[in-house]
Amino acid sequence: MSDKKDYRLQTRLIHGQFRSKKWDYNHQVVPPMSQSATFRLEGASRGATGFFRFACDRINPDREVPIYIYDRLDEPTRGMLEENLAEAEGAEACVCFATGMAAISAALGVLCQAGDEIVAHRVLYGCTYSLMQNWLPRMGIKTTFVDFNDPDAVKRAITPKTRVLYAESPVNPNLELVDLERVRALLGDAEDRPQLVVDNTFATPWGQRPMSLGADVVVHSLTKGLGGFGTDMGGAVLTREPLRNLLLMYRKDFGGALSAKAAWTFLVHGLPTLATRMSTAQKTAGVVAEWLQAHPRVKRVSWPGLASFPQRALAEKQLRTPSGEFAPGTMIYFEIDDPEGDGERGGRMMDWIAQSAYSITLAVSLGQVKTLIEHPYSMTHSALSDEDKRKGGLHPGGIRLSIGLEDPADLIADLEAALAHA
Ligand SMILES: Cc1ncc(COP(=O)(O)O)c(C=O)c1O
Repeated sequence: MSDKKDYRLQTRLIHGQFRSKKWDYNHQVVPPMSQSATFRLEGASRGATGFFRFACDRINPDREVPIYIYDRLDEPTRGMLEENLAEAEGAEACVCFATGMAAISAALGVLCQAGDEIVAHRVLYGCTYSLMQNWLPRMGIKTTFVDFNDPDAVKRAITPKTRVLYAESPVNPNLELVDLERVRALLGDAEDRPQLVVDNTFATPWGQRPMSLGADVVVHSLTKGLGGFGTDMGGAVLTREPLRNLLLMYRKDFGGALSAKAAWTFLVHGLPTLATRMSTAQKTAGVVAEWLQAHPRVKRVSWPGLASFPQRALAEKQLRTPSGEFAPGTMIYFEIDDPEGDGERGGRMMDWIAQSAYSITLAVSLGQVKTLIEHPYSMTHSALSDEDKRKGGLHPGGIRLSIGLEDPADLIADLEAALAHA
C-alpha cells in the first residue's frame, strides 16, 4: 500500500488507519462495535503483562496486538477512534472521555496540582468557566481570567505557579480569535514552562490544528462538529506522547471513559463525513452571515469569513484546512438591534423560532446536521458573571447560530420571519 500520509485528510478521515491491530479480523469494511466491559484472559501471565504494559510503555501499533483487560483502561473501538483523531489533529497521542467536560477536566487534572495556577482567556464556554471558577479552587487550583489578545495582561497574569494557559479559539460564543503563536511565544522555552491548552471544538481539526500553532494540548467536545449528528456525547485530549500515559492513568482512576458505542458512531459516522459536512455548512454560513449583515434589525455579525471581521488577517492565518484553504467555519454570532438592552427582542425572536420555524431549532449544542440557535447570555454562558460577560463583549442581544446542512434559502426565510417578530 502507498503511504497513507500522501493522501489528503478528507480521504484519511474515511479510511483511518486502514488496518488496525486493535481488531483481529481485517476483512470488515466498517469497523465493528465492541461491547464488552471486561476481557477474557488466557492465563494469569497475560493479565499480569496487560497490567504491566498499561499506561507504562507504548506498544508499536503496527506490529503488536494490545492486551485488553477492562473497558475503562482500554478497549478496541475507542482505541481505533483515538488513532484516527490523533492523525486528524496532527498529535502523537489521543485519549477519549465520556464528554468534552470530562476531557477538559482530565487535561487540567494531569497538568495541575494543588498550589498551581491557570491563566485563562476571559470568555470561555460556561461550564469550562464554572469548572475553573467553582470546582478547581476546591482542589487548590486558582484561575486568573484575562484578555488573551492583550499580551501585556497575559504576561502580568503569569506567575511562577502558572502551569496552564487555557483558551478557546474561535471563542464560544462570539468567535473572537486568540493569536496562538503570539501566546505561545510568551511562554518561553524552559522545560518546565506553562503548557498551552486550546479548545478546538468550534474549528474541528478540519478547520484548524492548534498544535501546529504552538499548542501543547488540544481538547475537543466530540459531541459537536466532530460527532456531527448529535447522537452521542464525547470528548478528547490530544497531545504529545509523554502525556498519554498520565491521561490513561487519570481516566482509569477518575473514570469518565468514552463508551465503545459512542466511539463507534464518531469513528464510523462523524470522522468520515467531517470534511464534507464542514465544507458544505461553511458555504451556507457564508451566505447566511452576508444576509444577516445586510439586515436592518441586525447590529453586528461575527463570522471569520466576513470582510468586516475585526481579526480577518489572523483568521486567514489560523483557520486553514489541512490542504491550506481558508476555513472560517460554521458558527455565526450576531447581535440584534436591542435599544432597550434587556434581551427582550432576542427572546421574542427565539420564541418565534421555537414555535414556528421548520429549518432552525432552538437548542444548545452545535456542529450538527441540523441548524441550531441559542441565546448564550441566558443559556450556555449564564455561569459567567455580568461583569465578565460585559468585558468579554457578550450582550443580551447576542445570538449564536450553528449552521447545519439545510438549504441556505430555507434558513434565510426562517431567519427573516423570526427577525420580523423580534
Ligand atoms: C467550546 C466547548 N468546549 C467544551 C464543551 C463541553 O462539551 P460537552 O458538552 O461534550 O461536555 C462545549 C459544550 O458546549 C463547548 O461548546
